[in-house]
Amino acid sequence: MFHTTFYLRRLHSLCGLVVLGLVLFEHIFTNSMAIFGPQGLNTALEMMELIPKPIFMGLELGGIAIPLLFHGIYGIYIAMQANNNPGRFGYIRNWNFALQRWTAWFMVVFLVWHVGYLRVYVKGVTGTPISFELLQNFFQNPIVVVLYVLGMWAAIFHFCNGITTFCMTWGITKGPRAQNVISYISMGLCAVLCLITVVFMSSYFMY
Ligand code: HEM
Repeated sequence: MFHTTFYLRRLHSLCGLVVLGLVLFEHIFTNSMAIFGPQGLNTALEMMELIPKPIFMGLELGGIAIPLLFHGIYGIYIAMQANNNPGRFGYIRNWNFALQRWTAWFMVVFLVWHVGYLRVYVKGVTGTPISFELLQNFFQNPIVVVLYVLGMWAAIFHFCNGITTFCMTWGITKGPRAQNVISYISMGLCAVLCLITVVFMSSYFMY
């Protein structure tokens, strides 16, 4: 029983950092092509369509859907056991611990809406290709824009703070000094990725 929990925790941790981390980077990279306007984003999206359908579907299923479902569902179980008390102690690490869980809850709702609407409904059910123009139209509603920026920031913070906790979980950073160094680096990365998100989201209002 102890061993099952131990290995599930390790798998959850690896899945979050390696698999979902790669998905997050790929997603930010592709979406940042919007900075170059309709042609930039549409070309990037068309290039992905060049991947043969069975391989693309296999990647979506094995590389995104299954790891995300495993990490998400087991993550909900972990988050339900968490005792968040940032106010009581106030240390940065306690706040980060609580934020790791709050961003997880927010992502559960955001990802169901984001994937359910754009991937399953628009692309899957109606067969409409995703394009700069479609997203520009979607972002006419300011509430949608705010929710999307918050969804991206939540995923970015969750991932970057996860780098620090991953290094502790796997014994990579043992002392407080090493943990602080990794924490500063990952929060720096968090700030950069959050800024890139704001820049590419603003592109929809510039063209
Ligand atoms: C679908 C919603 C998600 C939920 C409910 C969720 C839940 C959680 C929870 C509760 C933890 C803390 C685990 C612990 O303390 O042992 C965690 C860690 C982590 N998550 Fe997520 N997560 C979600 C999505 C994501 C996504 C999209 C990514 C990547 C972009 C990600 C990356 C990570 C990383 C890197 C860790 C740190 C692993 C570690 O400490 O070893 N998660 N997640």
